Amino acid sequence: MKHILDKLEQRRSEARLGGGEKRIMAQHQKGKLTARERIDLLLDEKSFEEFDMFVEHRCVDFGMDKSPKSPGDGVVTGWGTVNGRTVFVFAKDFTVLGGSLSETHAQKIHKIQDMALKMRAPIIGLYDSGGARIQEGVASLAGYAEVFRRNVEASGVIPQISLIMGPCAGGDVYSPAMTDFIFMVRETSYMYVTGPDVVKTVTNEIVSHEELGGASIHTTKSSIADGAFDNDVEALLQVRRLIDFLPANNQAGSPEWPSFDDPARVDSSLDTLVPDNANKPYDIKELILKVVDEGDFFEIGAKHAGNIVTGFGRIEGRTVGFVANQPMVLAGVLDSDASRKAARFVRFCDSFEIPIVTFVDVPGFLPGTAQEYGGLIKHGAKLLFAYSQCTVPLVTCITRKAYGGAYDVMASKHIGGDVNYAWPSAQIAVMGAKGAVEIIFRGGTPEEIAEKTKEYEDRFMSPFVAAERGYIDEVIMPHSTRRRIARALAMLRTKKVERPWRKHDNIPL
Ligand code: HXC
Repeated sequence: MKHILDKLEQRRSEARLGGGEKRIMAQHQKGKLTARERIDLLLDEKSFEEFDMFVEHRCVDFGMDKSPKSPGDGVVTGWGTVNGRTVFVFAKDFTVLGGSLSETHAQKIHKIQDMALKMRAPIIGLYDSGGARIQEGVASLAGYAEVFRRNVEASGVIPQISLIMGPCAGGDVYSPAMTDFIFMVRETSYMYVTGPDVVKTVTNEIVSHEELGGASIHTTKSSIADGAFDNDVEALLQVRRLIDFLPANNQAGSPEWPSFDDPARVDSSLDTLVPDNANKPYDIKELILKVVDEGDFFEIGAKHAGNIVTGFGRIEGRTVGFVANQPMVLAGVLDSDASRKAARFVRFCDSFEIPIVTFVDVPGFLPGTAQEYGGLIKHGAKLLFAYSQCTVPLVTCITRKAYGGAYDVMASKHIGGDVNYAWPSAQIAVMGAKGAVEIIFRGGTPEEIAEKTKEYEDRFMSPFVAAERGYIDEVIMPHSTRRRIARALAMLRTKKVERPWRKHDNIPL
């Protein structure tokens, strides 16, 4: 018996070495951890339970039957816990044939995806791979497609998170693209459908890996990634932090963590947050940080469309999604990018029963040919659609401008806002006073325009016209914002909305 036990231990040790010492060293030299080191950091200590450690590929083409096989076949899979909560994980092992996906490698991922869905627990994929195992041809393509199908089936049922920690090329990109969040590691990771060599052949463009698909591109220009971190360790610890904010599934409800922050805490500095001059910016993140428990806010998409801020915080220990116009960037205007970014975030929150708090300071939609040609109407409609279909609690607070169509879109009462607050500094109107008067009194003398502008400001540039109609439930003191939101969310916990049956909606994609 001792002999059998020793043999098992020996086989395990061999499998844990993946592609061998030399390749592990090469991995470290590139500033990257191995798949197993990553999993150890991601999960609670000693909580990892591995599946399919001894799986090997069955390929016999291109000499694959003659070369030594690596147990595990380029992906480490299993489950464990993050702060005590179950998650499923797969980590591509670049030391084995560049982490490329074979038929058996894919089957390991399918098994983990199926388990995660059955158990209604989040799944996290750690990517470091050269794409389809070239020697396996269509078997590899089939393996990918079955991963994709499972991604779609799990979408909106369990959180799916992708962390790109090395190359993520070819077939590997589409699974992350269908998950809820993608994060990257700066400088060591890149994502693209076709690499620089193919790009050069087809288009004659010469680009580096970083220029084509590095974190600097995907967190800004393409917005494929929701965030980037400096190294493997930071990235893994931040994913742990994100998991703490997320429900296990779409029926579990937000996790509740102990909070020592008084929900009734007042913050008098908020009374002077909005400058007297309506054209001056201020940082909306200051409001978010002062409202959430212990100032703990996990921002999503910080480097893209900075004119809208999205992310998770907690109130009374429970997760809340925050959406806020940012006056510091483009005056907080809604453009195509901001609309898409916020719409996707709102839909994630609604899928997973996370209440949404919206802070509004928006001068309208961004005018211009660039926006119109780029489909502003359709992108703006995405956000309108996303908020309108929400069944989660929606609490809205207008801090300053809420002009035009953007007023309607930003979780107004009319599209489903449950509790709509405004600060006394709010200006709820069709547009800014000067623009409005110049249209109504076209051709007026400068004196007439100035006089009418003053009249328009006095009448409409306040929260009271909307409050008189009940569009705003209450004009609140800025310093009491946290208390008012906490009370509203507590009242809304039992919110229940029924929608008419349909197969699915037809959001303007
Ligand atoms: C088989 C692969 C592989 C792959 C890498 N390797 N990618 N083996 N299939 N796709 C192997 C290498 O041969 C090498 O083996 C080892 O992994 C490490 O690779 P290196 O090239 O030495 O590493 P590096 O220099 O860091 O370059 C990484 C890389 C490069 C940029 C990812 O390996 C690369 O360009 N790979 C091919 C990418 C690609 O074209 N993939 C196919 C995409 S088509 P040895 O034994 O020498 O150490 C696709 C379509 C699917 O995915 C569509 C589905 C929808």
